[in-house]
Amino acid sequence: MNLTNKRILLGVTGGIAAYKSAELVRRLQDEGAEVRVVMTNAATEFITPLTLQALSGNPVHTDLLDTETESVMGHIDLARWADLVLIAPASANFIARMVSGQADDLLTTLCLAAECPIAVAPAMNQAMWGNAMTQDNMAQLKESGIHVFGPDSGSQACGEVGEGRLLDVPLLVEATSRLFPSTLLAGKHVMITAGPTQEAIDPVRYLTNRSSGKQGYALAEAAIEAGAKVTLVSGPTNLEQVTRATTIDVISAQDMFDAVMANVDGCDIFIAVAAVADFKPNIRADQKIKKGNGENIFSLELIENPDIVASVAELDPKPYTVGFAAETQDLLNYARSKLERKNLDLIIANDVSDQSIGFNSDNNATTVIFREQETTLPSMSKTTLSRKLIKLIAEAMA
Ligand code: PMT
Repeated sequence: MNLTNKRILLGVTGGIAAYKSAELVRRLQDEGAEVRVVMTNAATEFITPLTLQALSGNPVHTDLLDTETESVMGHIDLARWADLVLIAPASANFIARMVSGQADDLLTTLCLAAECPIAVAPAMNQAMWGNAMTQDNMAQLKESGIHVFGPDSGSQACGEVGEGRLLDVPLLVEATSRLFPSTLLAGKHVMITAGPTQEAIDPVRYLTNRSSGKQGYALAEAAIEAGAKVTLVSGPTNLEQVTRATTIDVISAQDMFDAVMANVDGCDIFIAVAAVADFKPNIRADQKIKKGNGENIFSLELIENPDIVASVAELDPKPYTVGFAAETQDLLNYARSKLERKNLDLIIANDVSDQSIGFNSDNNATTVIFREQETTLPSMSKTTLSRKLIKLIAEAMA
């Protein structure tokens, strides 16, 4: 997802979901977009222009014939300024007026004048959404090339349940950014390892760690958004498949090593996010190990697993090779020594002493260590972090 420097004109129409536009402004800005807001008069009954003005940092426009704002940025200028007109929420009434080509207020006029793409996120009562006239209007909107985001279904503000809810804000942001495909990694093949490995002790027990796979999967999504072809080699996780990646499911470190080595040829970038078990039991018992007779110490002999990222870094030619370093102490020194020892192009140092970030959390904070420089990325969602990391990697490669 990348909305850096994209200019989004957010149209807010009258409906209870209008309060969500405040959050939407912020999340679009988080992705790098510049946001200006136009409200219908009905929208101002649900949320004040002042709120959206304070959040967007720009004057909010409401009137078509406002001499003051026309002189600063009139409706034609606003339409020309935008890379996208996004109407969220779009009421049934607004959609009907749009379909009939009306230009009786600022927002409908803008829609007629806009030469950029327009997207509409409907939000209304489920019966209004299901009404044949609304459905006809939606069909006409789609036919004229207007993008439609949602609606979602579920419980509604009016107490009813059904289709017609405004799509959740993160999904709206995601749908918006899909309209601006990034080409940062276009034509590149990226392989990513993710999740934990499981090292069998006997048929019912194994050694593993707390990795959820979230960071690796988020990086896979971010690489896809940047235009890459992605192969995801994943240890056991409970996550949904990354739909546009080729996923190879593995269990143990040896499986992961074999899958990587069999498929890494031709990859441009290799990112080792997986928390690979450094050791495995020397012997996997064929039958479930029984409790000893009164002995209270049980010893397990461990042997080292192959180092996957170091083996990839030895290939000739080798892909641009990125490692992660999960450490609970002396983070940067340990990470720098892994960068050298494993012959990596860059390493992402991950402080896992704080349980609110890193393993199994939705957030992460890292320091990106290149051979000549370091960049600190403070705590943020793994999704946002991944987009920033992909951008840094793409720039470093270029
Ligand atoms: O999966 P999540 O819950 O989202 O958590 C994300 C994470 C904390 C697991 C992730 O951000 C992270 O830090 N991954 C690296 C974990 C790790 O095992 O680090 P390490 O310092 O032990 O290993 C260094 C590097 O060598 C890593 O890139 C690792 O993938 C790689 N390695 C390690 C051992 C091995 N046998 N083969 C390897 O390729």
